[in-house]
Amino acid sequence: MAKTNPSLTTTLRSVADEDLSIFFEHQLDPEASWMAAFTAKDPTDRQSFDAHWQKVLADKTITIRTILWHGEVAGSVLCHSWGGDPEVSYWLGKPYWGKGIATQALALFLQVVGDRPLYARVAKDNIPSIRVLEKNGFTLSGEGRWFSNARGKEISELVWELK
Ligand SMILES: CC(C)(COP(=O)(O)OP(=O)(O)OC[C@H]1O[C@@H](n2cnc3c(N)ncnc32)[C@H](O)[C@@H]1OP(=O)(O)O)[C@@H](O)C(=O)NCCC(=O)NCCS
Repeated sequence: MAKTNPSLTTTLRSVADEDLSIFFEHQLDPEASWMAAFTAKDPTDRQSFDAHWQKVLADKTITIRTILWHGEVAGSVLCHSWGGDPEVSYWLGKPYWGKGIATQALALFLQVVGDRPLYARVAKDNIPSIRVLEKNGFTLSGEGRWFSNARGKEISELVWELK
């Protein structure tokens, strides 16, 4: 797939209420859910999606941005510390995959979030996400097994660290 240079085309901004319907559509995609693996129990449940996002947006300890590509809402990137350590995660709508957007969005986000070490948890077979982390300087720091809602079983998860 031909890659576009995203350096001038990927930007971050605060999340707007109207972004949530787009994020909801993004997380409905079965391939995306499979990749991310550690997802909501029922991605089609809009009520629990909205409840989750209201919690996220109200939590002042969470940093979150909408990812724009050429001004279009392409996805989101956030940092939470629900498990104790600061952790980053991101999600792009399928039409935006394979253009270097997540790599660029994370690079921009790392200028916003200064916490170090910063962690990320990824299903072991989510190679695109692993590449996004590697290209942003994260190194492998651990491995565990967790239940994946999207796959209905326990799978291997890698922990990545940015020192
Ligand atoms: C994972 C995800 C964020 C990657 O976003 P992206 O913008 O496509 O990633 P980039 O274009 O920056 O590319 C990252 C790397 O993955 C590779 N890649 C992208 N799509 C791929 C695919 N379908 N198959 C194999 N490799 C792929 C790219 O070639 C690149 O690697 P390279 O630099 O070695 O060439 C996106 O696919 C996504 O949102 N998936 C669903 C949710 C998810 O998995 N979130 C992460 C949870 S930890």
